[in-house]
Amino acid sequence: MPYKVKCFECGREVTDGLLDSCPTCGGLLNVEMDLSPLKGKTLKDIRKAPMGVWRYAPFLPVDQKKAVSLLEGGTPLYRCLGLGEKLGIKDLRVKYEGANPTGSFKDRGMTVGVSRAVELGCKVVGCASTGNTSASLAAYAAKAGLGCVVLLPSGKVALGKLAQAMFYGAKVVSIDGNFDEALDIVRRLAKEGHLYLLNSINPFRPEGQKTVAFEILDQLDMQVPDRIVLPVGNAANIWAVYKALTELRELGWIDRMPRLVGVQASGSNPIFRAFEEGKRDFQPVDHPETVATAIRIGNPASGRKALKAIYDTDGVAVEVTDEEIIAGQKLLGRTEGIGVEPASAASIAGVMKLRQSGEISADERIVCICTGNLLKDPDTVIKNSGEILRSKADIDAVIKIIAR
Ligand code: F0G
Repeated sequence: MPYKVKCFECGREVTDGLLDSCPTCGGLLNVEMDLSPLKGKTLKDIRKAPMGVWRYAPFLPVDQKKAVSLLEGGTPLYRCLGLGEKLGIKDLRVKYEGANPTGSFKDRGMTVGVSRAVELGCKVVGCASTGNTSASLAAYAAKAGLGCVVLLPSGKVALGKLAQAMFYGAKVVSIDGNFDEALDIVRRLAKEGHLYLLNSINPFRPEGQKTVAFEILDQLDMQVPDRIVLPVGNAANIWAVYKALTELRELGWIDRMPRLVGVQASGSNPIFRAFEEGKRDFQPVDHPETVATAIRIGNPASGRKALKAIYDTDGVAVEVTDEEIIAGQKLLGRTEGIGVEPASAASIAGVMKLRQSGEISADERIVCICTGNLLKDPDTVIKNSGEILRSKADIDAVIKIIAR
C-alpha cells in the first residue's frame, strides 16, 4: 500500500478501514502517503495530466482507475485587481471553489471518499452536514450507485444545499438539533454498522481536499504565496491545505510554507478563541450562531488539527461578524463578479480585517479560498441585495423607474 493510516494523537497504525477514530485513544486518524514514487519528479511530470483533482493522483490514497469522479477541481484562481485596490493589497487572488460540480470544495474530498467506500465494498454512505457535504455526498453516492443518508440541522441548511441533497436521492433526515449533535448521531450510526461515514473525520476526505492547495501552487507556477486564507467550520479543510503544503515541501517542490489564516464567524469561534489564548486545544461553543450556516459549528471535530496547521505555519486565526461577512460577500461580487456563499466570504472579510489591523501588509501575495457558490444560499442573497423595482407593463413607467 502506498500509504498508512495512523492516529493523529498517539501515532498507532490503524488497518481496519471502517474505523474513523483510533481504537486505543479515540484520536482522529490521518493518512500518511508514501511519496517516494514522486522523488526526483517535478511539477512538469504531473502537468501532463489534465487539470483537476486527479492530476494529483500520486498524492492520493485510492486507485485513480477506479475513481468515482464528476471531474471535480480545476477551479479558477482569479487575480482580483479591483478588490485588491479596495483592500490595499497589491496581489490578491481568489480560488473559486464554487465552480466545482456540486458548487463547493467538498467535491474534492468526496471523489476520494466515495471511491474509498466503493473499494471497501460499502453499500450505504452517510454524513452529518451544514449542507454542502450532504449535497456533494448525495451526488457522488448517486454516481456510484450507493445508498445515502444525510443528517441536517433542522431549519439551518441553506436552500440550495437542501435542494441538492433531496434531488440526488439521499434520505434526508432533519435533526432537531445543531450540526454537532447530528455528527454525534451519525458517528454512532457508523459505529453500529448502519453506514460508512463520510464526514471529514474520515481521513480519506482531507486527502482529496489537499488538491486545492496543489492547484493553487500549480496555478502560481510553484511561487509560494505569503498567505492562504480560508473559512474554518469543522476544521478539516485547513488541515488538508496544511498537509498538502507539507508534502510539497517534503518533495522540495516548494521551499517555504505560506502562512495559513483560519477565519471563523464570531458566533461560532472556538478555534479563534483557542488561538487568542495560545492553546493547542479548544473549548466548544455551546450555541453556535451565524449567517454563514456552513460554518455554524461549535465543536469542530478536526479542531486540534486546525490549530496545529495554524501554529506550524506561523499563521493566525481571526473572527469576523455577520455584518463583516455580508459586506465582504457584496464587495467581492460587486467589484469582481465573483459570487460566493457567506461562509466563503468570511475569508474576504478576514483579509479586510487583518489588513486594517496591519497584520497583513500591502505588498503580500494573498490567496483567499472561497469555498462555495453564491446560489447555495439564495435567501441570504435576496435579503441583503436591495429591492426589486416594480413597474406597470408600460415603457414610460419603466423609463421613470430606472431614471430614479
Ligand atoms: N466553507 C463552506 C462553504 C463549507 O460548507 C464548510 C464546511 C466550510 C467552509 C468549512 O470547512 O468544515 O473543513 O472547516 N461545511 C461542512 C458541511 C461542515 O457539512 O458542509 P471545514
